[in-house]
Amino acid sequence: MERAYGDHTHRILGELGIADGAKVVDIGCGTGSITKWLASAVGAAGRVVAVDRSAEQLTLLSEDIDRDSIGNVTVTQADAMQIELARGEFDLAHCRLLISHTAEPVAVVREMAALVKPGGLVVSFEIDINGLTSFPRTEIYDRFRQLSRNSGQAMGLDFEIGTKLPAVFRSAGLAAPDMEFIEPVYLRGAEKRFWEYTARESKLPVQTGLMPEETFSELMHELETVANSELYAVAQPRLVACWARKAANPGPMTEQQ
Ligand SMILES: C[S@@+](CC[C@H](N)C(=O)[O-])C[C@H]1O[C@@H](n2cnc3c(N)ncnc32)[C@H](O)[C@@H]1O
Repeated sequence: MERAYGDHTHRILGELGIADGAKVVDIGCGTGSITKWLASAVGAAGRVVAVDRSAEQLTLLSEDIDRDSIGNVTVTQADAMQIELARGEFDLAHCRLLISHTAEPVAVVREMAALVKPGGLVVSFEIDINGLTSFPRTEIYDRFRQLSRNSGQAMGLDFEIGTKLPAVFRSAGLAAPDMEFIEPVYLRGAEKRFWEYTARESKLPVQTGLMPEETFSELMHELETVANSELYAVAQPRLVACWARKAANPGPMTEQQ
């Protein structure tokens, strides 16, 4: 994932401008690949609070923080919809690939908006499965894209949420969000197979009962054949960045601002 999306995420966060000494909250931080980048961006005078509901992920991140002597990160175990941190204290609230894992996107972004100061920045990076395809187009990638979308739906998740982020931000009370599409396309390398590897690991189509194990294995084999051919490039799910600043003097929030 980091190889497919990492550089793009860092570039956009860098362009948005993270000041030395800034206070940042990274929600759904996982093992903290972005947390650690943010920690370095805010410098020793800054602070990053890393939030995740998974104790296992936070333990791995804590081990890294200790090993690398990163002094400006603290970890907090919490659900993204109810984070017990002081409201209106942060310069930036960030999440990547969190909202596609939750059933209530607006509630998550509303929580992020509550955590930042007036004028503070809310930034989210989320996938849109419709970006997944091969060039030239193949029937197997059309099938894989459809199957991925349906597996997400079967879990109550929306793998097209990326392109809907401006609407989510507005519903959460953040006016005038901006967005950028990241379309990673690869001819070779592990990045070319990022989404295939994710599917192999999660086996979501099998777990959700959409496909028997044997058919799933055949599908994975066909995807591998495309990936191994340099006659085909593969586009991973697009990553959509969306950001907005909280109003300096926020008025009452409405559902469809
Ligand atoms: C795909 S990982 C992304 C990790 C990291 N943001 C990144 O981009 O590398 C999703 C993370 O969100 C966390 N997560 C999912 N739902 C959550 C929730 N409701 N509240 C807090 N964390 C959540 C998971 O535990 C997992 O660590």
